[in-house]
Amino acid sequence: MAEALPEDGKLITLEIDPHHAEVAGRNIDRAGLSSKVEIRVGKAIDWLAQLVDEKAGPFDMIFIDADKPPYAEYFEWALKLSRPGTLIIADNVIRDGKVLNPNHDDPMVKGAQRFNKALAANKKVTATILQTVGVKEYDGMAIAIVN
Ligand SMILES: C[S@@+](CC[C@H](N)C(=O)[O-])C[C@H]1O[C@@H](n2cnc3c(N)ncnc32)[C@H](O)[C@@H]1O
Repeated sequence: MAEALPEDGKLITLEIDPHHAEVAGRNIDRAGLSSKVEIRVGKAIDWLAQLVDEKAGPFDMIFIDADKPPYAEYFEWALKLSRPGTLIIADNVIRDGKVLNPNHDDPMVKGAQRFNKALAANKKVTATILQTVGVKEYDGMAIAIVN
């Protein structure tokens, strides 16, 4: 993502695990992209509110790929950080088709179900879910454009 940015482009990534952040930081550095990428360590839900407070948006693109239970809340924050044309992508929202089972009790599945319903009902975006089949699992990503 950072490689696709223009000279003055900026990417902010939110990561709860300091070790993951440190590994990512080293690789971003090695790729020569540290001037464009800012890693913020902590809970995404806290950082999202902070990003709104500091008027860090609007972002051209927002990629949601952290813990699944609060996906619907991440989506609401993403909208606050958007403008018309912003692309919002959320990964892992099909979960082997388990999202079709309304009685599923896995919190990850329930989080994806809640997100998918919120996405479908939201008039501020035009969205689809692209299903993916790979060696890892059968899954899918939501792709939404802010109207
Ligand atoms: C699937 S990985 C993301 C991979 C990354 N998007 C990529 O393509 O390389 C999910 C990451 O979200 C982080 N994470 C989990 N819960 C989080 C939270 N509440 N806030 C911020 N990051 C979180 C995990 O530590 C993990 O590094």
